[in-house]
Amino acid sequence: MKRYHVQTFGCQMNVHDSERIKGLLESLGMGEARDQGEADVLVFNTCTIREKADDRFVAHLMEARAAKQRDPEKRIVVGGCWSESMKQELFDLYPFVDLAFGPGAIHKLGDYIAAGGDLPEGHFSTFDHFAGHLPGKRERRHQAWLQISQGCNSKCSYCIVPSVRGREQSRSLEDLVGEARRLAADGVRELTLLGQNVNSWGRDLPAGQRAGFGGLLRHLDQVDGIARIRFTSPHPKDMRDDVIAAMAECESVCEHLHLPLQSGSTRVLKAMRRTYSAERYLSLVGRIRAAIPGIALTTDIIVGFPGETEADFEQTMEVVDAVGYDHAFTFVYSPRRGTEAAAMAEQVAEHVKRDRITRLVDLVQRHAAEHNAALVGSVQEVLVEGPSRTDPSMLRGRTRGNKTTLFRGDAGEGELALVEILRSTSQTLGGRPAVIAAA
Ligand code: SAH
Ligand code: SF4
Ligand code: F3S
Repeated sequence: MKRYHVQTFGCQMNVHDSERIKGLLESLGMGEARDQGEADVLVFNTCTIREKADDRFVAHLMEARAAKQRDPEKRIVVGGCWSESMKQELFDLYPFVDLAFGPGAIHKLGDYIAAGGDLPEGHFSTFDHFAGHLPGKRERRHQAWLQISQGCNSKCSYCIVPSVRGREQSRSLEDLVGEARRLAADGVRELTLLGQNVNSWGRDLPAGQRAGFGGLLRHLDQVDGIARIRFTSPHPKDMRDDVIAAMAECESVCEHLHLPLQSGSTRVLKAMRRTYSAERYLSLVGRIRAAIPGIALTTDIIVGFPGETEADFEQTMEVVDAVGYDHAFTFVYSPRRGTEAAAMAEQVAEHVKRDRITRLVDLVQRHAAEHNAALVGSVQEVLVEGPSRTDPSMLRGRTRGNKTTLFRGDAGEGELALVEILRSTSQTLGGRPAVIAAA
C-alpha cells in the first residue's frame, strides 16, 4: 500500500482542508504514514498570510527535495494558499514538485491519483464546488469543522486571502444542515463553522435561500446531538443585531466571539479598508456584552500597518484596554505581494513594529490573566478532549468560553464535565470535578 503524509500550515480552514485531503487519499486505498520519511507521497497544505509563513514553508520544501534526492520514488505535492499565490512560477523555481493545487481544488487531487495512480505534473486551482461530499478524516471524533463559505469579498488592503481563495461563495442551508446531521450521527458534539467572513454567509445564494447567518445559527442549533456551536471568523461590519440575538438565544452557540479588531485607530482602519471606526467597534462590543453577559471576546490585531504613528498605536492600546480581551492574536504587519498596502509609501521600521508588538502583547496577557482569575471559584462546563499533553494523569478540555482547562477526573473524550475552577494563568484554567449539591 502506498502511504501519504500531510503537513498543514496556516488557519483552521487549512486544517479542515487537510482532513478532506487525507480522507480522499484513504478512499483511494492509501494509508497515512507516521512521518515524511515513511511516506511515498508528501503533501504540503500551505499558507501565505505573512512572509514568515512563506519562509517557513520553503525551508520544509527544501528538506523534501533532499528526501526525494535520496529516494526518487517519492512524490511531492503542494496544495493550499501559497501554492495558489505561486502558480505562475512554482514549477520554474521548484521543479522537483510533482503536483500543485490551490485551495478549493482538493477534489481534483483525487481525480488525478484515481486516473493514473501516478502524479502528472501540473497545477490546478479553480474553485468549482465545495468539498463537503468528499470523505473526511477527523482529528477528533467529537469535534468537527463545517465550512459554510469559501473565499472573501472584502478588500482589506493588507490581506492576500481574497486573491488566493477567490470570491465568496456560500454553501446552501440544506447542504449545511444535512452535513451537520450526518456529523452529529457520527458522534460529533461540537461544530465549528468556518469561513473567511462567516457572518456575511448566504448573501450570494438565490433569493428565498437567504436565511442570514443568524438564521443559519438557529437552524444548526436545532440539530440533535450538537451540544456546542462555534464559528470563525466574523467581520465586525456584518455583526448585525439578528446575529447577536441568535447567539444569545441558541443554547448550543457558545459564549465566545472572535471579533477581529485589526487596529484601534479609525484612520488606520480606513486605510485598511475595514469599513468600521473604533467607535462603532466599541459600541458593537457594548451591544454584544449586554445581550450575552460574560461572553469571552478574542481578536486579531496588526501592528505596524503602513503609516501607523505612535498616536495610532496608542489608540489601539486604548481600545484593547477598553474591551479587555480574553485573548488576542497579534501580528506584525507583513507586506504581501499584489496587495494595496504593500505599495504604500510609509512602511514602518522593523524595530518600531517590534517595540509596539511587545507592548501590545504585555497588555493582552494582563487582561487574559485577569479574565481567567475572575473564573476561579466558578463552575464551568468542559468538553473533554482527552488527556493533557504535558501531564497524562490530567484531563484537558475547553469551557464554552473556549478556555483550555485541566482537571483530574474520569470523564471520557467527548463528554461534558462540570469543573470547579481552582487555579488560573493567562493561558489555562485548572480545577476539579464539581460536586453538585442534591436539590
Ligand atoms: N478571514 C479572517 C482571517 C484572516 S487571516 C478574518 O478576516 O478575520 C488572520 C489574521 O491575519 C487577520 O485577521 C489579520 O489580523 C492577520 N493578517 C492578515 N494579513 C496580514 C498581513 N499582511 N500582515 C500581518 N497580519 C496579517
Ligand atoms: Fe482578509 Fe479582510 Fe477577507 Fe479577512 S475579511 S480574509 S482580513 S480580506
Ligand atoms: Fe493562510 Fe490561506 Fe488560511 S493564506 S491563514 S491558509 S486562508
